Amino acid sequence: MLSLRLLPKNSVSVALSVLVCGLAADARETVDLTGKWTFSFGNEASQKVDVPHTWNAEDGVAGPKSGKGSALSAQSSSYKRGVGTYERELPVKPGKDKRYFVRFDGASIVTDVAVNGKPVGRHEGAFGAFCFEITDALKDSGNTITVKTDNTFNKNILPLAGDFTMFGGLYRPVTLIETEQTCIAPDYYASPGVLISQDKVTPQSASVTVNTLVSSGKEASGKTEVKVDIRDAKGKVVATGSGGVSAGTDGPGRAEVKLNIARPVLWQGRSNPYLYKVTARTLVDGKETDRVEQPLGLRTIGIDPKKGFLLNGKPMQIKGVCRHQDMEGKGWALSKADEEKDMKMILDMGADGLRTAHYPQSGHIYDICDKSGVIVWSEVSAVERVYDNPAFKDNMKQQATEMLLQHGNHPSICMWGIFNEIYHQCGSDMKGVDMEGTLKELKQHIKSLDVSRPVVGATNQQGRRSLNEIPDYLAANMYPGWYGGGPDGMKGSVEGYVKAYPDKGIAVSEYGHGADIAVHEEQVKQPAPFSRHHPEEWQSYGHERNYNAIRQRPEVWGSFIWNMFDFGSSERSEGAKPGINDKGLVTYDRQTPKDAYFFYKANWNPEPMAYITSRRFTERKATETTVKVYTNCDSVTLYVNGKQVGKAAKPDDLCIVKWDKVQLKPGENTVKVVSNRKGKRVSDSCTWNVRS
Ligand code: GCU
Repeated sequence: MLSLRLLPKNSVSVALSVLVCGLAADARETVDLTGKWTFSFGNEASQKVDVPHTWNAEDGVAGPKSGKGSALSAQSSSYKRGVGTYERELPVKPGKDKRYFVRFDGASIVTDVAVNGKPVGRHEGAFGAFCFEITDALKDSGNTITVKTDNTFNKNILPLAGDFTMFGGLYRPVTLIETEQTCIAPDYYASPGVLISQDKVTPQSASVTVNTLVSSGKEASGKTEVKVDIRDAKGKVVATGSGGVSAGTDGPGRAEVKLNIARPVLWQGRSNPYLYKVTARTLVDGKETDRVEQPLGLRTIGIDPKKGFLLNGKPMQIKGVCRHQDMEGKGWALSKADEEKDMKMILDMGADGLRTAHYPQSGHIYDICDKSGVIVWSEVSAVERVYDNPAFKDNMKQQATEMLLQHGNHPSICMWGIFNEIYHQCGSDMKGVDMEGTLKELKQHIKSLDVSRPVVGATNQQGRRSLNEIPDYLAANMYPGWYGGGPDGMKGSVEGYVKAYPDKGIAVSEYGHGADIAVHEEQVKQPAPFSRHHPEEWQSYGHERNYNAIRQRPEVWGSFIWNMFDFGSSERSEGAKPGINDKGLVTYDRQTPKDAYFFYKANWNPEPMAYITSRRFTERKATETTVKVYTNCDSVTLYVNGKQVGKAAKPDDLCIVKWDKVQLKPGENTVKVVSNRKGKRVSDSCTWNVRS
C-alpha cells in the first residue's frame, strides 16, 4: 500500500499535482500553456515556439562528432546542452481569494521558474512533474512567466550515464491552475493530492485508504472536511466516506478516509482492466471548494520464483516491451496523440507489459496502461552508476518520491525498478564509491513510501551477488545473438540466473537485436553489433530464437523486448544512421514495423494475421529463395506469380511457416499468402524483383 509520508516540503525541489479531470467548474480551473512562448537557446536569437518543446529534436540524434565509437554515455555530448529560456504572458487576472499554481509535467534537466522576475521555484530532474504556487508573485495584469531549463550534464542529478539522448527543454505540457483558498494540494511533489492505498483486496471485498492532502491559503477560513466516493465503471457509487483534516507537520494537511467495496471487480490486466473512479472533494462549511478524480484498479500483485508473475493470484509470464519516450522530428516533446499512437502499436502487437526504461514516463502513458490492462515496470533513472555523496542521494530520493507520489495510484504499475546495469562501463573513476550502499538506501526509501509493490532491478552482472541481492526480485538484460554468443544462448543465460538466484525470481528485462530496414540478407549471419550492417533478417531470427527459450521457462516472470521503437542515442554510430539505436521493433519515425514486430504479433495477438517477412528485400539476385511467414492461422497457402506453391502449410508452435527452395523468375515476382481463421480471410502480398 502506498503509505503516505508527509515529507518536509522543500522549496527548492517541490513537485506538483497530476491529473485533474472532471473538476467542479467553479472550484478549480486549469489552462494549458501551449502556445505563445518565445524561446532562445543560450545567446541565440529568440523564436516563437509551442510547448511541449525541445531544442534537440535534430542534433540530439545527429550522432557523435567523431563519427566513431559507441560509448554508452550521454554525458560527452555532441548535441546542444545548455540553458534554454522560455517566456510568455500568463493568461490570468488574479481574482480576490483565489490561488494560482503553475504545473510542469516534465522539463529537462534543471528548471528555474520566475514570475514577473520573482523566482518561484527550482526543480532538478528531467522526468518528474513539479508545481509551484505563484499567487504572491502575480500583479493585477501583464504577468510574465520566465522558465530556464538547463540540460547540461550534472553529476548530482540522475541519470549519470545511459545509452540515450537527454533532450533539453519544456518537453511536457505546462498548466496554469486556479483554486479556491482551500484546495487539494497541487504542489506536494506534484502528486494528485489524493493518494490511494489498497489495504486488502479479495474477490469478496476490498478495503482502501484514501489520503487527501489539503492545502489552505493565507485567507482560508471555515471548517474543512473531505468527502470521498468510489464509483464503478458505470458511474454508480459503491462506497463513500468522509473525514476531517489534521494539520500537517510541514506541508499540507491530511484527511484519511477508509472505504470498503463489496464483491469488487478486479483489474485483471488486458483481459479485464476494470477501473473504479475515486473522487475526493474538499468542503469548507459544507461548500465544495475542490475536487480531484483518480483511477482505482483493484488487484493483488506478486512474483513467485516458481510460478512467475501473479496478478490476483493468477500466474502469467509478462509479455513486455521497453520504451524510450522520443520520436523522429520531436525528440521527447511528444503530444498525447503521439503517445497514444505508440501505445496502440504496443497493444496491437499483443504485448501486456511495459518497462518505462530508463525513467518514469508521462502520466498519460500510465493512464493508457491502466485503461488497457498493461502491466508496468516503472523505474528510477539509476543507470550504469550512482554516487554515494549526500547531494546525489538527495536528488535520487527526490526523483523516487516524485515517481511514487505522482504515479502511485496507477493500478498498471506493478513494480518499481531501482537500477539498470549498475557497474557497466565503470572504470577507476568509480573506485571506492559505495554504489550498492546508495541502491540499498533507494530501496529502503521506496519501501518507506509503498510496501505494496515489489522492487526490481535490471542487472547485467551475473557474478555480482551482492548487487543482485538488493532488489526483491531480479531481472537481467541478456543479449545472446547480439553482443556475444549465438541467439540460442538465451536458454543458458536464463538457466544460469535461475540457478544462481533460486529465490529471487528472474525476468529478462532486455533482449534485442539491431535492424536496418534497408539492409537484407538471404542467408542470416550474426552481424558485428557496432557495424553499419544490421540486416533486418537477423533481428527477426534472433527474436525467434531468444523468445523460444524464454517462453519455455514459465517461472521467468516476464520478458521486456529491447526496444519497442528505435531511439535517439547521441553517442552511437552504427546501423543505418548515427545517433540512433536501431534495436526497435518499429522505426524511429513509427512508419515501419519491422519483421520482428510481426513475429510477436503472430505469437501474442489473437486477431488472425499473416505476414510475409523480408518484404523489403525487393531487389534480389537469387532465383531460389525461402519464403517465411509469421501467422497465427491454422494453415497458409503460398502463391508465387499467381501459382500455388506446394500444399497449404501449418505454422510451427512459434507461428512460423517456411517454404524452402521457392523459385522466382527474373524480373518482377508477386508473392502472396492466403489463409482462413474463424471464417475470416487473411492475406498478405509483396513484390520482389530478381536482377542478376
Ligand atoms: C543495455 C542498456 C540499454 C542499451 C542496450 C543496448 O542493456 O540497458 O540502455 O540501450 O543495452 O545496448 O542497446
